[in-house]
Amino acid sequence: MNVLNNISEVKSILTDLRAKNLSIGFVPTMGALHQGHISLVEKAIRENDVVVVSIFVNPTQFNDKTDLKNYPRTPEKDIKLLEDSGIHYIFMPSEQEIYPEPDTRIFEFGQLDKVMEGAHRPGHFNGVAQVVSKLFDIVKPHRAYFGQKDFQQLAIIRQMVRLLDLKIEIISCPIVREKDGLAMSSRNLLLEPEVRKSAPLIYKTLSDAQKKVGELMVNDLIVWVERNINKDPNLSVEYFSLANSQNLQPVNNWTDSDSIIGCIAVRAGKIRLIDNVYFK
Ligand code: PAJ
Repeated sequence: MNVLNNISEVKSILTDLRAKNLSIGFVPTMGALHQGHISLVEKAIRENDVVVVSIFVNPTQFNDKTDLKNYPRTPEKDIKLLEDSGIHYIFMPSEQEIYPEPDTRIFEFGQLDKVMEGAHRPGHFNGVAQVVSKLFDIVKPHRAYFGQKDFQQLAIIRQMVRLLDLKIEIISCPIVREKDGLAMSSRNLLLEPEVRKSAPLIYKTLSDAQKKVGELMVNDLIVWVERNINKDPNLSVEYFSLANSQNLQPVNNWTDSDSIIGCIAVRAGKIRLIDNVYFK
């Protein structure tokens, strides 16, 4: 396994591999890797000849500068974990390498980034699109792997690939959870012990809510979920949305869409956690 820091190096190595007709799988990450990330890596290894993982904490997608400063960084541990997983290249660029000058591009995602994370984290998805489009241009993968944990991010990336007319297959991977149900996240490392104990209530509530679909109307279920989580003094729901899983617009009735996703953001102490499950 090689750790690369320069764009020119990555481009020249991968151009050679592509010329040999080898398929390239790509997993973009911000590091502080856990089994959720590794599940993407393992799928990429199964499906491609060469796998590249990027580790870059992208400043343009952080609307909250304290969140950027506190974001966990564990580079040595990450490199070890990726070495053990059997990938071929890690791309770990500096901020200067990715943004030699400010990226002023604005992406147009229509209604897709006006809801949920997009509504609560202004500029977040534009920053994600900026960095992922740059990384795609550097790596030029055949396939790129993203987790359903960030459900809206997946929809945004698919839309970006359409907008830019890229020939990259976007592969979505299921959410990996801790034994107690909490969705794995780099931010879980930042939870205070008491708050960590409360956090499994998020998924527990979503799972219980799935069983109430026949019993409660959409709006009543939203209220039930919010109340059940807010009962815990360590947790506070920022939003819970039941939405059409294709366009992410909220539904009013269970019959409004064939496929309904429930997406939630919760303040757990000082840390913001997200999760989602299908309701239909
Ligand atoms: P990061 O939060 O590091 O996540 C990298 C990838 O791992 C994303 O596709 C995310 O959805 C996936 N992932 C995280 N936790 C997961 C879990 N518990 N189960 C399954 N997949 C999981 O998402 C980002 O970084 C950034 O926005 C990025 C796309 C790298 C752009 O900067």
